[in-house]
Amino acid sequence: MRVLITGGAGYLGTHTLLQVLAAGHEVCVFDNLSNSSPEGMERVKALSNRTFEFRNTDLRDRESLIERTKDFAPDAVIHFAGLKAVGESVEKPLEYYENNVQGTINLLYAMEAANCQNIVFSSSATVYGDPDFLPITEDHPLRSTNPYGRSKLHIEEMLRDLAASKPEFTAAILRYFNPVGAHKSGQIGEDPMGIPNNLMPMIAQVAVGRREVVKVFGNDYDTPDGTGVRDYIHVNDLARAHVAALDWTQDHKGARAFNLGVGQGVSVLEMIEAFAKASGRDIPFEIAARRAGDIASCYADPTRARAELGWSAELGLDEMCASSWNWQDSNPRGYEPDA
Ligand code: NAD
Ligand code: UFG
Repeated sequence: MRVLITGGAGYLGTHTLLQVLAAGHEVCVFDNLSNSSPEGMERVKALSNRTFEFRNTDLRDRESLIERTKDFAPDAVIHFAGLKAVGESVEKPLEYYENNVQGTINLLYAMEAANCQNIVFSSSATVYGDPDFLPITEDHPLRSTNPYGRSKLHIEEMLRDLAASKPEFTAAILRYFNPVGAHKSGQIGEDPMGIPNNLMPMIAQVAVGRREVVKVFGNDYDTPDGTGVRDYIHVNDLARAHVAALDWTQDHKGARAFNLGVGQGVSVLEMIEAFAKASGRDIPFEIAARRAGDIASCYADPTRARAELGWSAELGLDEMCASSWNWQDSNPRGYEPDA
């Protein structure tokens, strides 16, 4: 298959790119490198021993997107590109709607121009808001409390509307829970710019000595140890789900959502303890105030993905922490060249 990967230079994109290449597909990456560096893709080339095309392309530029998509003529698109920081989305909502929603509208026009009917879309468990019940199934009501989440919801709705209007259109909407970890080589991994928003890169940067302490955002939630509970999923399991979703698009029609999670909750304190064990490092932490907008618990019912995509998560917390540590320890400053 000819597969276009938008946002393929990013964290989830590089790991997925590697597995899509390993599955034998021809790939082209579109990315504007606004939150990534070309180094990750260079490393994927070396690891995979395969080549792929890369176009420095901004999804906001519809004309060039249409031309370049027609040039590559994809059979399917995996659509990662977008902005993803919840807090920033509250400060800069228009940027989020422009990059995420308008960018996706442009991409859907470009796919139409290139006669491509299949898309695998990066959605998020954020579309469930503060859940009514756990574990969360795909039929749980959809809602959101911030512009980032609403951008994902709008895109999901557009994909469902498009599928209703075009019988040949197929969209696999993948709702990620909390992706963490890195490729086992330690060559590619999560490399956030500035202070990490998310727990795992924060723990990894404290473990490697880049930051002093992990702030635990609240220990008075209604959870077993009072700290937030999430469904952490290894990035390689997540990447493998995209290969399964690509296959699924080949013999299904319509828009269908799939939860991608392990199906088990892990607390902040459990994660810190598991990382300390995997790294052999002390992870200093202190209890801080709750973070605005956070929920107590969120974990998936991944039954549908198992039944319909033939996919389930295989890697556990120890592998998530060990691979994340291997990446951080080998690349203390991420993809930045050593000073
Ligand atoms: P990332 O920032 O590492 O990757 C996104 C990539 O998209 C980057 O390389 C960035 O340069 C590119 N990009 C952004 N705007 C663009 C534009 N207008 N045109 C072209 N390229 C653009 O993020 P990630 O963690 O790899 O996430 C990938 C996708 O998965 C995002 O859509 C994100 O919302 C979604 N997601 C991520 C998580 C997570 O925890 N990482 C959870 C749920 C959903
Ligand atoms: N946490 C800390 N300290 C930190 C960072 C996080 O205690 O420095 C806690 C949070 O309070 C939460 C847990 O660790 O209890 C996980 O937080 P993350 O920021 O890693 O992940 P979230 O579940 O809050 O957010 C993630 C994505 C969002 C997405 C959301 C729902 O980052 O983009 O999942 O899918 F919207």
